[in-house]
Amino acid sequence: MDNHVHDYYPIFSYFATQLGQPLSWWEDKKVLDFGGNWGNVLRDPNCTIKPENYHCLDVSQSALEQGHLAFPEAHWHLYNRFNLVYNFKGVKGEPLPTSVTDQKFDVILVFSVFTTTSVTEMQETIGNELIPLLNPGGVLMTTYLSLDAQAPLSFFLQKRLGFQEKLKLSVRNKFKGRWYGYLVGSANVLLKNEGLEALTEQHLMLAFHKDEFIKAVFPTCTIKRFVSPEIQHCIIIEAPQ
Ligand SMILES: C[S@@+](CC[C@H](N)C(=O)[O-])C[C@H]1O[C@@H](n2cnc3c(N)ncnc32)[C@H](O)[C@@H]1O
Repeated sequence: MDNHVHDYYPIFSYFATQLGQPLSWWEDKKVLDFGGNWGNVLRDPNCTIKPENYHCLDVSQSALEQGHLAFPEAHWHLYNRFNLVYNFKGVKGEPLPTSVTDQKFDVILVFSVFTTTSVTEMQETIGNELIPLLNPGGVLMTTYLSLDAQAPLSFFLQKRLGFQEKLKLSVRNKFKGRWYGYLVGSANVLLKNEGLEALTEQHLMLAFHKDEFIKAVFPTCTIKRFVSPEIQHCIIIEAPQ
């Protein structure tokens, strides 16, 4: 079985700060956590989402099982879609499960999921599959690594040696048939700057984007800069009332 259970980090606090609504606003909201892993959102002590109103969809069966153990009253949806990092045996272009598409949500949260997909998958999943699941006036929040901010670049590139080691490890993993991906978006430029052009495209999956590129992809969105300790910017898209 896959083993992609994530470390705990306070994602609810991140999203609540980015949206700027009081904690009480979340209490009656029905939430879909897309790529929610083992429910880090619910594990946040500040979280005011009721577990019975919380739906987590993920491609990682082991993460969902851990989430279900901790919060049996929440809803855990397995999605067997191909992902180069997390589910390389999954089905490419797999549609969302009907257990999710038969419902509507007030809020859809997506933390650090489209950092490991192509731009096309991000655009199509958000635009064609997730936005239509929002109730009128609902809100979708997703994140990305910005090329216009220092923190994500520092995190991945100023520790240059570590970054290269990670790349090499990734390549080795690929040749062992376990996976590891390729780089998408503008990050190829960074690799070239780092003298790593031999490793581009085929070897590491990690997406960085210019803010103006995100604006072009989602013209109605609002972009909020990352709030520490996180390093990802937030995209907020609101459904019409
Ligand atoms: C970096 S982790 C973030 C997990 C979680 N959002 C959190 O912050 O704790 C990325 C997650 O996205 C999931 N994932 C990857 N591709 C996906 C897809 N196409 N649909 C749903 N989940 C996906 C992975 O299994 C993993 O749990």
